[in-house]
Amino acid sequence: MGNDNTIRWGIVGAGRIARRFADGLAHVPGTVLAGVWSRRAESAGALAAPFGARAFEHFDALLGEVDAVYIATHQDSHPEYALRAFAAGKPVLCEKPAAVNARALQTMIDAARASKRLFMEAMKPPFYPLYTQLRAHLAADPIGDIGLVRAGCSIANVPATHPSFSMDIGGGALLDIGIYEAFLAVDWLGEALDVQTIGRIGATGVDTFASLNVRHERGISQLFCGLDLQGRGDALIAGTGGTVTIHENWWNPARATIMYLDGRKVELDAPFEGGGLNYETAHFCELLRAGAIESPVMSHATSMRMIAITDAARRDLGVRFPFETE
Ligand SMILES: NC(=O)c1ccc[n+]([C@@H]2O[C@H](COP(=O)([O-])OP(=O)(O)OC[C@H]3O[C@@H](n4cnc5c(N)ncnc54)[C@H](OP(=O)(O)O)[C@@H]3O)[C@@H](O)[C@H]2O)c1
Repeated sequence: MGNDNTIRWGIVGAGRIARRFADGLAHVPGTVLAGVWSRRAESAGALAAPFGARAFEHFDALLGEVDAVYIATHQDSHPEYALRAFAAGKPVLCEKPAAVNARALQTMIDAARASKRLFMEAMKPPFYPLYTQLRAHLAADPIGDIGLVRAGCSIANVPATHPSFSMDIGGGALLDIGIYEAFLAVDWLGEALDVQTIGRIGATGVDTFASLNVRHERGISQLFCGLDLQGRGDALIAGTGGTVTIHENWWNPARATIMYLDGRKVELDAPFEGGGLNYETAHFCELLRAGAIESPVMSHATSMRMIAITDAARRDLGVRFPFETE
């Protein structure tokens, strides 16, 4: 970090989400895109150029010139780059899913803790202004004991060439989309104790649709995710004294309606700026400046609880990636 506390970011991977992250830095004061590395020099160069950033030829060279690393490759390679970043003493913000299974995620958490470096999965919804307002509102004016989360998202027009259809990179609806719903469920209901899944497997072997009923420490969640139906939607959080609807698209939350049993209705309206990734980035930067190694909002335990759900659901559906040897 420079004397002025500016955080020099390095991006690994140069695809769709990497570009959105880079654009979002303009909304996070005290940050700069310092460098990009990806496996193809031309895509790293194309991402770096408009931001005046340097395209690195080698990942280790990038590590030497940045204060924080954002991993935006496909999920099969997240652990490899995270471990190399921690070994070089660099903190990591890692795209979701942080890893394809709990075993791989645990190696990342262990390495982060051993190196005492900040590590957070880039799960964006909890950092949006709407979600923060909702938490504060329910803390002050609760809807009783929350016992149900119902949420889903299915996208019908995913091109056949999209990485989500690839077994080789750890694709599938559960890891691409279901991980968001898993977050919402564990955030309000706690750890999953039992997962029951039905779904469909597509031609490439990935799960193309999954419907989950999950028993948690504090209630039940009903979740779905898909790559073959159109089912964009809202999310419902139900308590003994009322309900919250986070309106579509709930994973980019901007509006919620709270209905209380006593007839009161509260509307929360909090548009987001900058594409949305900027809020998690700003949170990460604050933690980094404060010397933290874990986020209290998106903790390591929360990431482990989320991946436990997708692991269990993939087991139910019989989806095992070729590189998963155990
Ligand atoms: N938070 C969100 O809203 C959000 C949205 C979409 C995706 N994501 C997550 O972001 C990650 C990337 O998704 P994407 O849609 O951006 O994919 P993408 O457009 O295909 O881009 C992936 C990039 O990473 C590079 N790459 C892939 N594997 C690599 C490896 N082993 N080593 C080095 N570079 C590698 C690719 O290189 P090539 O150009 O050579 O292929 C490409 O530049 C996924 O984990 C996905 O789940 C998050």
